[in-house]
Amino acid sequence: MDPVMSGLEGVVVAETRLSDVRGDAGRLVIAGADVETLAGRVPLEDVAAMMMPRLDFGRGRARAWNELALAPVKNGMNALRAAVARLEADDAEAIVGAVAVFAAAWSRGIRGLEPLAPDPSLGHAADYLRMLTGQAREPLVRAMDAYLVTVIDHGMNASTFTARVIASTGSDLVSAVTGAIGALKGPLHGGAPGPVLEMLDAIGAPERAEAWIRTELAAGRRIMGMGHRIYRVRDPRAAVLEREVERLEGIGSGDGSTRIRAKLALARATESAAERVLAERHKERVLRANVEFYTAVLLDAIGIPREAFSPTFAVSRVCGWCAHVLEQRKTGRLIRPLSRYVGPVPGANLGND
Ligand code: COA
Repeated sequence: MDPVMSGLEGVVVAETRLSDVRGDAGRLVIAGADVETLAGRVPLEDVAAMMMPRLDFGRGRARAWNELALAPVKNGMNALRAAVARLEADDAEAIVGAVAVFAAAWSRGIRGLEPLAPDPSLGHAADYLRMLTGQAREPLVRAMDAYLVTVIDHGMNASTFTARVIASTGSDLVSAVTGAIGALKGPLHGGAPGPVLEMLDAIGAPERAEAWIRTELAAGRRIMGMGHRIYRVRDPRAAVLEREVERLEGIGSGDGSTRIRAKLALARATESAAERVLAERHKERVLRANVEFYTAVLLDAIGIPREAFSPTFAVSRVCGWCAHVLEQRKTGRLIRPLSRYVGPVPGANLGND
């Protein structure tokens, strides 16, 4: 009998030109370029244009503003899932614009603030930051753009696979993206950065990191932001995001810079303690920092409220989802794997008693 691959590990389900995750080498190639050469250097709009026909992001945001109708719910991914699901427009421009406009408006709403209308003349990163926090100034805009580029696509991750499965049935883009948002919400995928920040808060000081981690593991809990299905070395995106935090620390001034420096020192101490303790416990498996670890530190340094971390991930990843849906439509086939039935079969026990 064939083994059941319940996590589909090692199973290749599509050919893609969009991104390549090299788990052993710690390398991420996005549409022909290494992530390190794109983040902080090439704006999100141009990276998206390497993956699918160029979108007018500003027009997409303006169109979304006319369809803004958010349910007053506490969880940002629930708000996003519901708002995207109701979209009438079914093209990538509208959906990519909508995720940014809706995520920012939701976050302001739960803080008791009025939503801010998009400014189509700004870049996507700058306008998202402005709609969310009320201002968009350098160097924060660059840091946000670098973050969005870093997480735009990542092989056959769970939310992208979800989008492709839905697209493979011939369904529409809105349905594929709505499903993908649901997949991204989970803590094993895109829901980890909020908990990473909570962990750093709970640890409080670098010298307490190791004891805290040992207690968590002894209680049977996982360390958020550590481990990855594909990477057997440190996630290359962690290094890109760490570099951006360092940059903010270096050019920031006064209290802001001191706060970032302290958070970065705490994050580094926590990462190395977690790596050490996990290596002791899992000799068979390398468990190192993943993208979510430094996402938490960077988004916090930019001033993004932590409940908006996962929605901010979606602001970028929606580009990848749309590109994958377009690719799936062109080259894909109905995705329909098998299951092994282990339940009772009528009549199977006849004659045994
Ligand atoms: N903390 C503690 N233990 C961990 C761990 C973590 N972050 N990640 C994996 N492990 C352990 C598992 O408990 C398992 O141990 P066991 O065999 O004794 O049960 C072993 O390592 C293998 O884990 P497995 O669940 O097979 O790995 P996976 O490939 O399915 O999981 C993740 C990958 C990302 C889901 C997993 O590493 C994880 O849960 N990380 C924390 C959440 C997170 O950061 N998510 C964001 C991902 S980008």
